[in-house]
Order: sequence, then structure tokens, then C-alpha cells
Amino acid sequence: TYEKLWLAAAMVLIVGFIATITYGAVGPGVSMVDDDGGSIDPDAISDHERFGDTGVTHVGGNEYEVDVVAQAWSYSPGEIEVPAGSEVTFYVTSRDVTHSFSVVGTNINTMVIPGEVSQMTVEFDEPGEYGILCNEYCGQGHHNMEGKLTVV
Ligand code: CUA
Repeated sequence: TYEKLWLAAAMVLIVGFIATITYGAVGPGVSMVDDDGGSIDPDAISDHERFGDTGVTHVGGNEYEVDVVAQAWSYSPGEIEVPAGSEVTFYVTSRDVTHSFSVVGTNINTMVIPGEVSQMTVEFDEPGEYGILCNEYCGQGHHNMEGKLTVV
């Protein structure tokens, strides 16, 4: 009957959506593991071990860590530079409202929630320039919230 056909079609759609979401969560090089135990006090970021001093840290070999604080309507640091061939782990948190940290042309696209730390690891093989954008509406300056990532 038509009813069964529609039901089957709906099931296919639902499975498709779930597959899309799952792929997004386990996509290559990206994980949403919380490095700092799931919580961080947005009012005490300046004193925080990781986020008190934002920027790029060389942790050995080709591994780098980049600590980023999002705040209406900019990122600290606003410009990030890492060498080609590096494996970079980003740690991002927000000082105020929910933002996103999205690196155009890569699979880095994470929500940044006050009180939480978003973590993702990505390899940059080739030199290049990437725009960083906020994809989460965060007030009147939202469309101006951007940064720059340079792989040298
Ligand atoms: Cu920050 Cu939109």
C-alpha cells in the first residue's frame, strides 16, 4: 500500500539523518573530547591554566596546541600561525555567550559554549591561509566575528 511506501521512505530519511550526524561527530581528525573535565568557569578564564594565556604552544615533534577564547565579537588570539606538516589540537572556550569556531575550508566547525571546552585535532599538510568564522548568532557584531589561520 502507499502507506507502507511512505513509512519506508520516512525510515530511509531518518537513517540518512542519523548517518549524517554520526559522520559529523566522528569525521576525520575531529573529536569533541573535553580536556578540562567538562567545565570551566567563564568568569575565571584569565586565571585558568590553559586559557589565561591564549595562543600557540609547541608541545613536541610536529604537535602543537592552540588555546582560543571566543568573546563577542572576536577570538583571542585573532591570528594563528602554525607550520605545515603539523598536528594541531585546538582548545576553545567562550567567555560570554555561545559562539562557534569554524575554519573555512576545513572540517573544523565546533560550537563554543561558555563553561565548556571544545577540543579538536587536525593535521595541516600544506601551507595556506584560512578564515576563521563564527557560525552561531551571538549578537549585533556576529557577522564581524572572524580570525585568521595561517599555515606557513
Ligand atoms: Cu560569535 Cu557569532
